[in-house]
Amino acid sequence: VGDLTEADLEGKRVFVRADLNVPLDENQNITDDTRIRAAVPTIQYLIGKGAKVILSSHLGRPKGVTPKFSLAPIVPRLSELLGIQVQKADDVIGPEVEKLVSAMPNGSVTLLENVRFYKEEEKNDPEFAQKLASLADLYVNDAFGTAHRAHASTEGVTKFLKPSVAGFLLQKELDYLVGAVSSPKRPFAAIVGGSKVSSKIGVIESLLEKCDILLLGGGMIFTFYKAQGLSVGSSLVEEDKLELATSLLAKAKEKGVSLMLPTDVVIADKFAPDAVAKKLAELSGKGVTTIIGGGDSVAAVEKVGVADVMSHISTGGGASLELLEGKELPGVVALDEATTVTV
Ligand code: 3PG
Repeated sequence: VGDLTEADLEGKRVFVRADLNVPLDENQNITDDTRIRAAVPTIQYLIGKGAKVILSSHLGRPKGVTPKFSLAPIVPRLSELLGIQVQKADDVIGPEVEKLVSAMPNGSVTLLENVRFYKEEEKNDPEFAQKLASLADLYVNDAFGTAHRAHASTEGVTKFLKPSVAGFLLQKELDYLVGAVSSPKRPFAAIVGGSKVSSKIGVIESLLEKCDILLLGGGMIFTFYKAQGLSVGSSLVEEDKLELATSLLAKAKEKGVSLMLPTDVVIADKFAPDAVAKKLAELSGKGVTTIIGGGDSVAAVEKVGVADVMSHISTGGGASLELLEGKELPGVVALDEATTVTV
């Protein structure tokens, strides 16, 4: 998907779309910096080549300008990781931003404010995309976590800024997820969590075709329990998805996939909900390919201290699911020389 290493970067203004959408606590402290760390290699490379990095991201889902969704809390951690002071703009576009950008020395970074403070971002408004594009000479998309969104800073901007290429993180995620899943090293295990079966049908179906072991977690397991006639107390069940859950269980059996539910007594294997992460680490140790995606799962793996033994920790939640379902990611398709990347 394009090649960043072939671009001429010295003195060039590079618009880098990253996914710095990290969780913050009530005091605006970062509770998991995985996505910031993952964004560093591309930025570091650009700085090293003497580029001027205009960094853009969203944080949360603000409706208009909302101080608690400011990207300001990202600056100290990012500066620390890069070893240079990152400059923060108070806006995304406009004369103040243009002034800051025009004064940037080579090898520096300016972080724009939350791009979703403008409703035009999610609407993929062409005029807004053009304004973003006008800040720079070339575009690098490294926001794998947001690649499933056709927004102005992930898709629209590529129409006005050439070349538009993939950053190292985006490329790595695609190489790994597409490569490892389309021709997996066996045995291949995956875990899918989430509160609703309805939003995970596609990925479960797709993984049943590819996995040897599929572990399900999160609230959606209650629908599977009920489908097996087990008591679920007052847990949330998607009544209209019971039949579907039954057919997914049958499909797993038919395909010879070991489908495991926490404390499952019907399908044989058992594991306690708090040991999801540990079970995967154990499997990984036995040579099983383990890919983790989604905020809660990644946090669980980090908390238990087993992140290093996993085969791949994805920075994508929804994006990795859509990719695993076989969907095209608009943020990837829009890039130069983009091939149709599906699993
Ligand atoms: C994510 O956290 O999955 C990405 O940052 C995308 O966020 P969104 O679901 O609000 O578009």
